[in-house]
Amino acid sequence: MNKLKKTAFDRNLPFNALPDLPPPENIIDKEILIKWGLASRALAELNKNIMRIPNPLMLVNTISLQEAQSSTAIENIFTTEDELYKAVSDTIKEDSANPAIKEVLRYREALWGGYNALVKKKVFDKTIAIKIFQQIKNTKQGIRPPQSQVIIKRGQSEFKSGEIIYTPPRGEEIVEKKMNNLFRFLNERNEFDPLLKMVIGHYQFEAIHPFVDGNGRTGRILNLLYLVDQKLLSHPVLYLSKYIINHKNDYYHCLSGVTQRSAWKPWILFMLRAVEGTSQITNQKIDEILAQMDSTHKYANSKLKWYSLELNQALFSQPYVKQKLVGEITGARSRTTLTKYMLQLTELGVLSAHEEGREVFYVNNDLIRILES
Ligand SMILES: Nc1ncnc2c1ncn2[C@@H]1O[C@H](COP(=O)(O)OP(=O)(O)OP(=O)(O)O)[C@@H](O)[C@H]1O
Ligand SMILES: [Mg+2]
Repeated sequence: MNKLKKTAFDRNLPFNALPDLPPPENIIDKEILIKWGLASRALAELNKNIMRIPNPLMLVNTISLQEAQSSTAIENIFTTEDELYKAVSDTIKEDSANPAIKEVLRYREALWGGYNALVKKKVFDKTIAIKIFQQIKNTKQGIRPPQSQVIIKRGQSEFKSGEIIYTPPRGEEIVEKKMNNLFRFLNERNEFDPLLKMVIGHYQFEAIHPFVDGNGRTGRILNLLYLVDQKLLSHPVLYLSKYIINHKNDYYHCLSGVTQRSAWKPWILFMLRAVEGTSQITNQKIDEILAQMDSTHKYANSKLKWYSLELNQALFSQPYVKQKLVGEITGARSRTTLTKYMLQLTELGVLSAHEEGREVFYVNNDLIRILES
């Protein structure tokens, strides 16, 4: 009786009883294995599709922007896509971007910073998590100190606003120990497949809640980087945050289920469905972008002698394009030539020009249609 009292979950108290990983092996049953197979296959197809992209980094750029926007929207930071595209096209200085736009851009930078650190150092450890957090929140802080209390509250939009739904572990060294255990689990060879380890590890990371804020975003970036680390993806292009935001209630409910009832199954199935569905959608987007690039290139190239493959790629690496970029790639020597080029591009409908005050933005509407569909 006494023992039961000690370990029972109370959402208002720090959950120091959070069990270390690995979870019991018997959480993996037949239904999970079937879903795991489907998700793995979809992910493998995505990884193959990435190779078809002439310059993967270019598409990663566009896809990671969407990922950044969705992920940041979970925090209810509202940003219009239009403003966001302008900000990344570099036509406005980053300094003048509004705070919400800055958050989105920081998410993307954090994703890239983490990816570069991983490629260079080839170690997936808690320093990567700390780096991502620091970049997202634009801070020098690290893992939260034992004295600072963090709680997770129900979103304002739901009926009991402000109600505490979870209190993560707290105390001297406890968060550090749990983090070490988590990364040991992710890095060691054990009976769990890497995709399942990502899913299990994501719950654990959120339950540890190592930072004062930004744990959701940091955790979602870690998911992608872990897939890269485990060679399930060559580039971090899985567009997972949109699925999570579209199913936010289920996502939160499943996380709580693991904590309160050790209900791993619904959580694992939820995340595998997310991976499967998102891989398929990302694949479709890649196909559509490649097909559109091909037809844009064929058409523009048949009409304009100076239209190159390289320019075509550049026009599909972000939805808003600067005149300067076109100048650099085409090597247009004079302003008159460049103005003529821009006019020709808009006449053919490759780009459309939008004037705002004294600035002109060139928009790739075909790319936007695909990204936003
Ligand atoms: N019951 C729960 N147990 C553990 N983790 C939870 C629970 N409910 C929510 N979470 C996690 O907490 C995250 C929110 O924490 P935090 O505010 O630190 O992150 P964020 O990045 O600022 O927010 P968001 O994820 O909303 O963008 C959620 O994304 C989710 O992953
Ligand atoms: Mg937050």
